[in-house]
Amino acid sequence: MLLKVEDVTKRFGGLVAVDSVSFEIKEGEAFGIVGPNGSGKTTLYNMISGVYQPDSGRIIFDGRDITDLPAHARAPLGIGRTFQIPRPFPSATVRENVAVGAMFGRAQADVKEAMEISDYYIELVGLSEQANKAAGTLTPLEKRLMELARALAMKPRLLLLDEVMAGMNPKDIGNIIELLQKVRQEEKIAVVAMVEHLMHAITKFAERVMVMHQGRKLLEGPTMEVLNDERVIEVYLGKKIREGAEGAEGHRT
Ligand SMILES: Nc1ncnc2c1ncn2[C@@H]1O[C@H](COP(=O)(O)OP(=O)(O)O)[C@@H](O)[C@H]1O
Ligand SMILES: [Mg+2]
Repeated sequence: MLLKVEDVTKRFGGLVAVDSVSFEIKEGEAFGIVGPNGSGKTTLYNMISGVYQPDSGRIIFDGRDITDLPAHARAPLGIGRTFQIPRPFPSATVRENVAVGAMFGRAQADVKEAMEISDYYIELVGLSEQANKAAGTLTPLEKRLMELARALAMKPRLLLLDEVMAGMNPKDIGNIIELLQKVRQEEKIAVVAMVEHLMHAITKFAERVMVMHQGRKLLEGPTMEVLNDERVIEVYLGKKIREGAEGAEGHRT
């Protein structure tokens, strides 16, 4: 197992944001985390990537207990992520922003190598024309793609994507999913994508999904089985999901 999340809980004051959640991710797996706004998805990512320490429970990465490691010590082990709200260095170029990922992630590249890695992933996400622009001048969609390139440049073994496809049109989503399948195959990266509403995207992408609801794990299993489970439909989706069907998002909250 690449990642084992064991019974983790995170409280903010009186609020239990994540409540005794356990799940596992295999090497190279495509895993989806779905759940409405506020269900604890980002908090879960923050505990895996080291932004927060859980109040209880353990996180095991590649056989090692990383529960108490700070974020900067986890990235070199191979945990990469994107942020729901990208925070690039706005005056640095796209190339430089992505190169930072290569220097401080698992790649641990020197500057020259980092620039090469940066160019590779910038091209992969389709941002070559923007490579020498200041990151601050990018559109929100381009910033999201740059975030993805930066996370890939870390050479992660586990890539955590926070709403990376939100607001994209079906064609862009299709491209992103194709790109993610490519890096999974070629680099054996396990990719975890979390979404609030993009159920059709998750049916195309994920082999397994976990549904979060009010900080708890409601259900986990093969994607179509889980998304058509009565409990999931009742508390979250409101209707059945057809495989790969466009526009089959859950109702908005
Ligand atoms: N830093 C924080 N301080 C206080 N409450 C937080 C913090 N981060 C998240 N929360 C709360 O925890 C709950 C889960 O949030 P979050 O993990 O962001 O959910 P999701 O990503 O599924 O929308 C929400 O009620 C949110 O308001
Ligand atoms: Mg979130």
